[in-house]
Amino acid sequence: MKEKPLLLSSAPLIYAYMLYFLFSSAFVDIEFSVDMENKALQLVCLSVLNMLLLLTVDSLDNGLALRPPMGWMAWERFRCNTNCTEDPTNCISERLIMQMCDKMVTDGLRDAGYTYISIDDCWSERERDPVSGRLVADRKRFPSGIKALANYVHNQGMKLGIYSDMGTQTCKGYPGSEFYILTDSKTFADWGVDMLKMDCCNGGSGMEIGYETMGYFLNETGRPVLYSCSYPVCLGGKVNYKQVARTCNMWRNAVDLTDSWDRVYKVIRIYGDNSGNFLEAAGPGHWNDADELMLGDFGLSEGQQTAQMVMWAMWSAPLFISADLRHISAFARDLLLNKDLIAINQDWAGSVGHRVWQDPRVPGDDEIIEGWIKPMSNGLTAVAILNGSTYGEPVTVTKSPHQLGLRGNTSYIFFDVLNSEKYGPYNDTVPMKVRIPATSVVLFIATELQ
Ligand code: GLA
Repeated sequence: MKEKPLLLSSAPLIYAYMLYFLFSSAFVDIEFSVDMENKALQLVCLSVLNMLLLLTVDSLDNGLALRPPMGWMAWERFRCNTNCTEDPTNCISERLIMQMCDKMVTDGLRDAGYTYISIDDCWSERERDPVSGRLVADRKRFPSGIKALANYVHNQGMKLGIYSDMGTQTCKGYPGSEFYILTDSKTFADWGVDMLKMDCCNGGSGMEIGYETMGYFLNETGRPVLYSCSYPVCLGGKVNYKQVARTCNMWRNAVDLTDSWDRVYKVIRIYGDNSGNFLEAAGPGHWNDADELMLGDFGLSEGQQTAQMVMWAMWSAPLFISADLRHISAFARDLLLNKDLIAINQDWAGSVGHRVWQDPRVPGDDEIIEGWIKPMSNGLTAVAILNGSTYGEPVTVTKSPHQLGLRGNTSYIFFDVLNSEKYGPYNDTVPMKVRIPATSVVLFIATELQ
């Protein structure tokens, strides 16, 4: 059952949504008028709709994510495991979410700021309710329903996230929100959900309008729902990031992370290249989402886990753990709980960290050492140096504060955040010197001497 247009609403956006609904029906169902097969006409229609949206929607105004959101997300570690018969402790189910929620509380993650717990794909029945058109949670895996799960999570002082998709189907083939945007926004709010990750598989042309419309209807529910959008990835980054930032509290803009250094490093390179200047779109209420943290899983060495946490801190990227908290190493847990790293991640001084230099490991080589700096609101500067190279021998970096991208005129003291040691003062005549193992990182807070 598809949504019925709201003929009597005064909100122009709703009319835009009706048009979107009609036109996107045409694109998807392929049984609209012959005229609509004309691509040029379709494009004109979409442009008009976009303009209408730009005129009518001011911005996502939910007051959320004033600092980068933090939490836990099921996807990377538990994927689409629906086999509760053979793997009851790891399948996507209310039991799994409740156990993770409990661990977040007992391990101190909630109190450190990781307050969202987010279900990803594969949580629903394969079909919507035939009468109401509403999504239905899988009856075997979520027997108590999402509302009860949200209550449980809230009683633990946490917030519940849920997942949908701006296509007819999610990436794993479960029902998506296309044609059901209004219904789903109401359903999620009725259930007491606090965050929505809206994926973009099968989204098709014009999906930005769907995202903007969902943002509008979520606002209309009156429930503060953190809105996480994936469409910049599906549109290959060819989006207006300022507009994305007006629509979403956070947005994915790079490849999916997997439990491997190659993938983490790929994202670090994408963020370093900053193609389309997406870094500049970040700020209170709206953040670049570099995907989940792989800390505590199987694929990253301790140095690589540290590198991921440090880089995500430098970018003020949302910190969503995707590990089995029942079996996480003490190293990963300590890193996730590192107060200094969290403080850098949560600090907003008007800009996220930027890559300021790159040196080839050996001249002409593609293996690089790179430097990043992030201004802090206390006037100090976070300085990260990443040895992304897989060549085994540790590298020694020797650079003056100016060569590291610092602009002061005197000397700097460097505080090594990961080892709690102070070094310096460094200046143009006494450069900083540090040794960094392969695929690892050092992180300093630089203080300029007066
Ligand atoms: C996409 C997203 C992932 C995850 C899966 C679920 O690949 O990028 O984060 O949500 O879909 O199917």
